Amino acid sequence: MKKTLKFVLLAVLVLALAVAAVGCDGSEPTKEQAKDAAKPKLIAAADATFAPFEFTDPKTGKYVGFDVELIQALCDEAGYELEFRSMGFDGLIAALQANQIDAAVSAMTITDERKKEVDFSDPYYKSGLVVAVQAKDTEIKGFEDLKGKKIAVQSGTTGALQAEKITDKDKITYFTNADQALLELKNGAVDAVVNDFPVSAYFIQQGNKEVKMVGEILSAEEYGIAVPKGKTETVEKLNAALKKIKENGKYDQIYKKWFGEEPK
Ligand code: ARG
Repeated sequence: MKKTLKFVLLAVLVLALAVAAVGCDGSEPTKEQAKDAAKPKLIAAADATFAPFEFTDPKTGKYVGFDVELIQALCDEAGYELEFRSMGFDGLIAALQANQIDAAVSAMTITDERKKEVDFSDPYYKSGLVVAVQAKDTEIKGFEDLKGKKIAVQSGTTGALQAEKITDKDKITYFTNADQALLELKNGAVDAVVNDFPVSAYFIQQGNKEVKMVGEILSAEEYGIAVPKGKTETVEKLNAALKKIKENGKYDQIYKKWFGEEPK
């Protein structure tokens, strides 16, 4: 009897030591490491040439902007470790479909066409398209005056689609980045740019006084975070996090920082 008890105790001890040894390379993980290791990673991408939504801070070389802070706040809330990348706007959907990235947070308008290819989070920003022209232009007063005019756009955007509705494709110059299109207008090489209102407005605000906006804002656009089709868990987590940061003031704080006003 005594012998059996000794054996049992020994067995328990050996088992306990074995359990303790698993996952232990001699050094205790720090609290931070333990937390990060437990966090699933979210690889988010944007075309980071679209200020004030996503762009490179010239001073620090870091990605900054409304979308960058938004996705960071959403990841903090949802328990993701964020990895942020920049890539061309018209490559984002393909990258999602190839599962190279988990999310595109790139001021991307939720459209029926795109919904066939990717899934979207709830809308996080109300936007619209606007016409920008040279400040000295007195002829073009809005979308209605664009027919036959030379228009610059960013490839693969809703602005490009809108320009194609108005004028022939051979009048449209396609750029990889929206700021290239705006610079082309500033330099007088085209008559107009069709682009997202907040981005053209920011460009002018940054001191590009040779450019102005005219006419109405076509405001039927909402931005969403795109994820690969069928990734409902990601969408649900992002939506819950978005709801949370709208309730707790974090969303408002980021919005005010980048747009200088209360959310619309
Ligand atoms: N909202 C427009 C669209 O979805 C333009 C977005 C461009 N975004 C960017 N980061 N360049 O087509």
